[in-house]
Amino acid sequence: KEAVAGLQGADGMKVVTVLGARPQFIKAAAVSRLLRALPGVTEIFIHTGQHYDENMSGVFFSELEIPQPEYNLGVGSGSHGAQTGQMLELVEQVLLQEKPDRVLVYGDTNSTLAGALAAVKLHMPVAHVEAGLRSFNRRMPEEINRVLADHASELLFAPTEAAVRNLRGEGIPEERIKLVGDVMHDAALFYGAKAEIKSDILERLQINRKGYILATIHRAENTDEPRRLRAILGGLLQAAADISVIFPVHPRTRSALKRENLISIDHPDLHMIDPVGYLDMVMLEKHARLIATDSGGVQKEAFFHGVPCVTLRDETEWVELVELGWNRIVPPRSEREVAQALLDSLDHPGGREGFPYGGGDAAAKVVQCLVEGVNS
Ligand code: UD1
Ligand code: UDP
Repeated sequence: KEAVAGLQGADGMKVVTVLGARPQFIKAAAVSRLLRALPGVTEIFIHTGQHYDENMSGVFFSELEIPQPEYNLGVGSGSHGAQTGQMLELVEQVLLQEKPDRVLVYGDTNSTLAGALAAVKLHMPVAHVEAGLRSFNRRMPEEINRVLADHASELLFAPTEAAVRNLRGEGIPEERIKLVGDVMHDAALFYGAKAEIKSDILERLQINRKGYILATIHRAENTDEPRRLRAILGGLLQAAADISVIFPVHPRTRSALKRENLISIDHPDLHMIDPVGYLDMVMLEKHARLIATDSGGVQKEAFFHGVPCVTLRDETEWVELVELGWNRIVPPRSEREVAQALLDSLDHPGGREGFPYGGGDAAAKVVQCLVEGVNS
């Protein structure tokens, strides 16, 4: 809060933040704490309802101490067009009613795209946190969402130098691009200390520090592709013969595992558990020997907490993690390759030191630029 205490010029400013999926609650928590502390600023949350289970949504609002959304659109799950279309229609109605000075969106989900598109068509300035990330794989729904949200935005908050280069390469005017660092780093620092005090997940699961692999999987390219899903689950099972595997299962993945008759696999050291709250997740990350994931956020959190990571994908947007040696990209082609990569990485000492995601002050920079606008 001290970081933004001296800011001027926010009198009467109204910001509408559109969010809807798990990682957005965490990113927004870091920014909203500071934004709402600014005198003269009002922030209103529109929750699209993209994620709705208690452990995918509600838990984050209570744990991260962010206010309940003023609007919950209750859109829920659906095909891309149906889900995004409904959000677009309903977000527009709220924006017309609230008439904000800025519309803030995060990341690359369908909620991001709907928020950005609804706002830009109403000539309301859009600010995008996590702008400029690219996998250069247009088959990913997230890649489409990012590119379109970036091009609809007036203010583009880039977390990394690589993201800035991508935006320049796409012809985004220089004055709109703000290199601020990664708000997830801020969240990891702030909540990392709290987790040690508040989370008892290691005791509940009866696991030892540095005695397990933490795994998360949810990308469509892995869950909706039976060969890849089987390679991942088979690889985790093989690894579980050597070390416990803790696997909080995303609801998309649970459905896919059910579809493939893989959900009832029973192994004493492969713990398929429900998704956990953020403080429990941070605790699991900090004390894992290795993290295996296809999540964007979890890849970075591994690095923030000094844990080596195997990314079960064909590419990553977070190229710095690979360059520094903290992250290894392993396309999940076969059980054997996945298991081998996990077991080989168990004794990996980690990578080189580096600070590609800023100094933990990204949220303060976002708030400052948001208030001061393009010419900040
Ligand atoms: C979405 C984002 C993805 C992000 C992820 C974070 C898009 C296109 N994808 O993927 O970029 O990394 O969120 O977790 O926006 N479901 C439930 N309960 C819930 C939420 C979802 O059961 O609370 C199930 C439904 O069966 C749903 C499926 O999960 O169809 C997928 O949910 P959806 O929000 O469409 O995509 P995610 O895979 O969560
Ligand atoms: N996360 C969590 N509980 C879980 C799994 C993940 O709190 O069971 C957190 C994780 O720490 C990170 C964020 O959710 O902050 C990442 O979200 P996700 O992997 O769903 O999406 P992505 O980052 O890939 O968009």
